[in-house]
Amino acid sequence: MASTAKVGGNPIPRAGKKAHFTPPREVPPQITHTLPPEKEEIFESLNEWAADTILPYLKPVEESWQPQDHLPDPCSGSFHDEVAELRDRAAELPDDYLVCLVGDMVTEEALPTYQTMLNTMDGGVRDETGAGASGWAVWTRAWAAEENRHGDLMNKYLYLTGRVDMRQVEKTIQYLIGSGMDPRTENDPYMGFIYTTFQERATFISHGNTARHAVRHGDAALARVCGTVAADEKRHEAAYARIVEKLFEVDPDYTVMAFARMMRKKVAMPAHLMFDGADDRLFAHFSAVAQRLGVYTAADYAGIIEFLVGRWGVAGLAAGLSGEGRRAQDFVCSLGPRFRRMEERAQAEAKRAPAAAAPFSWIHGRQGQYTDTCCTSCSCLPLEDGGCCLTEEFGDSLSRLTLLKIPVYFSPDAALASSQSPNGGANGDRAEENNCTGSKPRPPCFNLLLPGVIGTRPSDEEAFLSGVCIPADLYLDLGEAAAAAEVAAATSL
Ligand SMILES: [Fe+2]
Ligand SMILES: [Fe+2]
Repeated sequence: MASTAKVGGNPIPRAGKKAHFTPPREVPPQITHTLPPEKEEIFESLNEWAADTILPYLKPVEESWQPQDHLPDPCSGSFHDEVAELRDRAAELPDDYLVCLVGDMVTEEALPTYQTMLNTMDGGVRDETGAGASGWAVWTRAWAAEENRHGDLMNKYLYLTGRVDMRQVEKTIQYLIGSGMDPRTENDPYMGFIYTTFQERATFISHGNTARHAVRHGDAALARVCGTVAADEKRHEAAYARIVEKLFEVDPDYTVMAFARMMRKKVAMPAHLMFDGADDRLFAHFSAVAQRLGVYTAADYAGIIEFLVGRWGVAGLAAGLSGEGRRAQDFVCSLGPRFRRMEERAQAEAKRAPAAAAPFSWIHGRQGQYTDTCCTSCSCLPLEDGGCCLTEEFGDSLSRLTLLKIPVYFSPDAALASSQSPNGGANGDRAEENNCTGSKPRPPCFNLLLPGVIGTRPSDEEAFLSGVCIPADLYLDLGEAAAAAEVAAATSL
């Protein structure tokens, strides 16, 4: 204990003292425990409501499907024949599709991280002992128990196909659980339940799309696997959405502000710290392949926001809103059209962008195809995570930071690599690493750190993990001239 110092709530090992184990991916200091004390009582008062209203969304174990229901039975005499049929069907699955399936499965397999996230929330919703009796605690354990079947089923199915390098997949899972995740929910259950609603819907969409693709590739059994998982996600989404609906009912002002705060931060994907021991940009590559294939896209991100705004009747909120609450309401209600515009811009860029490919260890080093947009050629987060094409929203954050005189840092290496031609600019290695072919000049892209990492110039790695990328021309289009000048002066760009 004496060997650590607190920075933004996170223990940082003292210089010179090497930790025995360091996760391959770490996030910068995070904002923690922001729930006002007076809000604690709200969740405690809702405990009985949760037991009565939310627990019925769970299915009794005896009525639940199990992975074995969808897999060849090893006790059966026909086991080998069933496995042979499964492998025949899977033989035609394209590599890009396998990449999406593995990425989705790895995300499911990091379930310990998600249960941890729920159990770090304040407001009396966490499972205090691991066997707590509150409605919230019972929900979290039973939800995790249902979720646990998803990774199990997908993992076993993929194992039996013989199409993927299981050792590499298993390494990725171990790395990912070791790294954890940063949902940016500040231990606040308002933001936490908004985040989980968003994510359940995102996984519902993703698994639903892999099911549709499986049908197209002639594997009806795999389609049933993905569709079964998607149905669970839908049920979980309904439960979490019901919780947030209740929060809007009892505390609309704070809930709409929490919704706006969560949207401003972007909804980080649960597996954003993914690593396989080889590809430093594995999550970006996986996300880009999923985007190209239409398994989970920027349009889906925009659609989820629009859906949630409608689901919770945000536009119709009137009573009980403070001035700040009304501003949050306006902001959240404006997001749908804004994200649609940005999504159209992204689509236009994707049409112009060159095709690219990255090797995936999961499929024995074979290539996964993606479109080499700005997001995949610099070190920013990809579209799924609210990257380059979310510039308008990001402009708001930038403006706010600048007004508050909070230092803002850009990563000039990424800008050089992505803006100069013919070989990606002065930093050729970087360009090569980023699959930047230099086939067309690009606007410079910058990684901008959000509040929390202040005082030292961040490394590219930190920028990648916490930053959002914006093309400079779009940034300037935002009319933030004063901010641009300040940042340019500070970074000598
Ligand atoms: Fe799941
Ligand atoms: Fe889920």
